[in-house]
Amino acid sequence: MLSLRHDLRLPLRRDEKARADFVSGLRRHVFETVAGEMRRDYGRAVAPRLAADAEPETIHAAMRGREAFQFYSALRVSSQEMVYQAIRPAIERAGDALQRKAAALAAAGGGGAKAAAPLGSLTLDPDLEVPRSVSAIDIHLSPGSYVEEYAEDDLAVGAVYDNRLAVSTFGVFGPNLDDIGQSLARFVRARHPGFAPRRILDVGCTVGHNTGAWKDVYPEAEVHGIDVAAPCLRYASARARSQGRAIHFRQMDAEALAFPDESFDVVFSSMFLHEVPRKGIPKVLREAHRVLRPGGLMLHMELPPADQLSAYDSFYLDWDGHYNNEPFYRAFRAMDLRRIVAAAGFAPGDYLQHVVPSWSALGEDAWRAAVDAPEAPVASEKTGRLSTGIRWFCFGAWKR
Ligand SMILES: C[S@@+](CC[C@H](N)C(=O)[O-])C[C@H]1O[C@@H](n2cnc3c(N)ncnc32)[C@H](O)[C@@H]1O
Repeated sequence: MLSLRHDLRLPLRRDEKARADFVSGLRRHVFETVAGEMRRDYGRAVAPRLAADAEPETIHAAMRGREAFQFYSALRVSSQEMVYQAIRPAIERAGDALQRKAAALAAAGGGGAKAAAPLGSLTLDPDLEVPRSVSAIDIHLSPGSYVEEYAEDDLAVGAVYDNRLAVSTFGVFGPNLDDIGQSLARFVRARHPGFAPRRILDVGCTVGHNTGAWKDVYPEAEVHGIDVAAPCLRYASARARSQGRAIHFRQMDAEALAFPDESFDVVFSSMFLHEVPRKGIPKVLREAHRVLRPGGLMLHMELPPADQLSAYDSFYLDWDGHYNNEPFYRAFRAMDLRRIVAAAGFAPGDYLQHVVPSWSALGEDAWRAAVDAPEAPVASEKTGRLSTGIRWFCFGAWKR
C-alpha cells in the first residue's frame, strides 16, 4: 500500500514495507469485517430493545457495553496508532533528505531539470495566525497535527499525512490518493461538458492530493490550493512539482481568503469542513461565495449529514467524533447543509448534493456507466464510509 507516485517517496526497508502492508490489511479487516460483525450484533441484540426512532447517541449508549463495539473500538484505535508507528521510522530516517529534495525540485522548477518554467508556486505567510482548532490538537491522533515544525523549512508532517493516508485507507483513495478529486472533477465535467473553469481553488488542501486531480481534469485551468499549515504546503508544492503539475499553493485561512471577489470558477474542498469549528463553517462558505464568479461552482466533499442517514449509520460515522480526536465532526454532521449554503449567499433553490461513484475503483468505462445511471441514495452503507466501493458525498451550489 505504501507505493507513493512521486519523488518524495521514502526509501523503505523490507520490514517497514511489510509492516505498512500489514497495518493496511488490518485496517481493511477492521473497517469491513469487524465493522460488519458489530452491525450484525446491533441488529441481533440491541435494535430489538430500542425504540424504532432511537437517536445515534442512544445507539452509542446501548452499544458501549457490547463486546462487539469494544472490540471494534479497540482495533480502530490500535490500528490508527499503528499507522503512525509504521511510517515514523522511515520519516525520521529521511530527516533533511526530504527538505533537500523539495529544495531541488523548487530550484529546478519542478518537472525535472528540463522544465521550461517553474511549475506553480509556493507562498507562505509567516504572520498568519494558525487557528487553535489546528494547532492545539493532534487531529485524528496524528503526531504534530498539520503544523508542527521540527526544523527550519520542515515538511515532516506533510510526509506523515501522505504516508499515513496511503497506509490507513487500504487502497480506497486510489493509487495516487486522489480519488475524491478525480471522481468529483470528472463528475462535474461529465454532467456539465460546457463548463470550462479558468481558475480553481481547493481550500484546506493539506498536501494537495485532490488539488492535483482538478489540474488533470481541467489542464487549461489555473489551479490553487490553500491551507493554514506551512509544512503541509511545502510538501504539497514539492509533490506537485515532482508529478509535473503546475499548482499554486498559498498559506491562507479559508475563513478570510486573500483573493479578490469573483476571481474563481470553482471552490472545492475535500474532507475539510468537518475539521473546522462550527462557528467557522459559515465564514468558509461565505468566502467561497464571495470569491466565486457568477456561474461558478462551490463543491465540498464531506461526511454525509446525520439527517440523511439511518441512526445506526450516523452512530457508526460519529465514532470518530468520540474516539479519534475529531472534535468538530459531530457538530458538522448535525448541520442543515441546505440552510448553511443559503445563508452563505447562494440562492436557496440552488443547493445541490450528489453521491459520486469512485473513479479509481471502477475504472473509466464502468464509472461513466455508473454516473449515467440513477444516483445511489445517500442513505447507504457505501456513502462516505471508508470501505471498498465507497461513494463520495458532496454538496454545494452554483453561484448565480
Ligand atoms: C483533513 S485535512 C483536508 C484534506 C485534504 N483536503 C485532502 O483532500 O487530502 C484538513 C486540512 O484543513 C486545514 N485547515 C484547517 N482549518 C483551516 C482553515 N481555517 N483554513 C485553511 N486550512 C485549514 C488543515 O491544516 C488540514 O490541512
